[in-house]
Amino acid sequence: MKGFEVFQTMENEMQKKRILSGIQPSGDLTLGSYLGAIRNWAALADEYDCYYMLADMHTITVRQVPAELRRHTLTQVAAYIASGLDPEKNTLFVQSHVPAHAQLAWVLDCYTMFGELSRMTQFKDKSAKNADNINAGLFTYPALMAADILIYQADLVPVGGDQKQHVELCRDVATRFNGIYGDVFKLPEPYIPKVGARVMSLTSPTSKMSKSDKDQNGCVYMLERPEDIMRKFKKAVTDSEASVHYDPESKPGVSNLMQIYSVATGRTFEEIEREFAGHGYGDFKAAVGEAVVELLRPIREETERLLADKAYLEGVYRAGAERASRVADRTVAKVYKKVGFLPR
Ligand code: TYM
Repeated sequence: MKGFEVFQTMENEMQKKRILSGIQPSGDLTLGSYLGAIRNWAALADEYDCYYMLADMHTITVRQVPAELRRHTLTQVAAYIASGLDPEKNTLFVQSHVPAHAQLAWVLDCYTMFGELSRMTQFKDKSAKNADNINAGLFTYPALMAADILIYQADLVPVGGDQKQHVELCRDVATRFNGIYGDVFKLPEPYIPKVGARVMSLTSPTSKMSKSDKDQNGCVYMLERPEDIMRKFKKAVTDSEASVHYDPESKPGVSNLMQIYSVATGRTFEEIEREFAGHGYGDFKAAVGEAVVELLRPIREETERLLADKAYLEGVYRAGAERASRVADRTVAKVYKKVGFLPR
């Protein structure tokens, strides 16, 4: 490249809007995280400067088995890449490798109100599920998440619908901070897909599909074996009407399956209704299962291939942490100065 072209490329990079998102490696990745989040990330790399994190620091708000956490984190790096996130075009990193997140989180803890944190639905849900371990980290989790986003001056945060409340809190905290110290943080927008924003459990379709669900038949995993995926879809809860049409209020099970099928095949709800007119739910559930198996097959195979090359994966997350730290450290230095910490 000639000097001028290099300069132009750098200019373009600098002008690109920035994206930050993350997933907790607290277990195997679910179909919910794939359809609600990861699937939408790969297409953004050309237009945006993208940072995707493995939110390992968030996972310890609930007890983890250390060796499992390490395994899930490494597998998730491989699954990100296998899902189309090219590490040359996206910054892929592990949250705990970039200490600036914890540094900014403490500052933001002091600008986030007790009342705000008390209203968070995820806190209420998780403290009900972990009644014997309602720790301070579980409570202040949204301040760490705000730090994750604000530290990169992110414009957009692509997440599933369940994370919208946290992104809104992040904006409130940033607005409060900016109100005192001037324009320190960019205000981020949540970026939520129209279909797939809330994938529901296959066995209790009025609650979110989640890896922490006690009923494992309700949750499909991204790297699960095809026969297990098929079994779960064949057992999915529907209703007694035997008619495939979209009505989340009165037909939550069928509507959830339609959403999944729509995202997996690109078909609209009308097309799906036509395709299964006159068919029983058995055919429909098998078709959804097969579409999901085919959607996930290449990702599973590529993840397995990448996991055999640990040195490559290490190279990816180390380079990612370096790139991420360069941006994150700048924001922390600015924030420390603003709040009045004496420079070292
Ligand atoms: P987590 O790890 O619970 O979920 C990761 C992403 O997957 C989406 N998701 C779903 N989308 C649709 N249907 C579902 N059933 C479903 N389950 C999960 C989530 O909305 C999310 O986008 N706090 C975050 C992790 C995080 C983060 C961040 C995200 C930490 N820092 C900064 C964005 C920006 C969480 O627990 O996601």
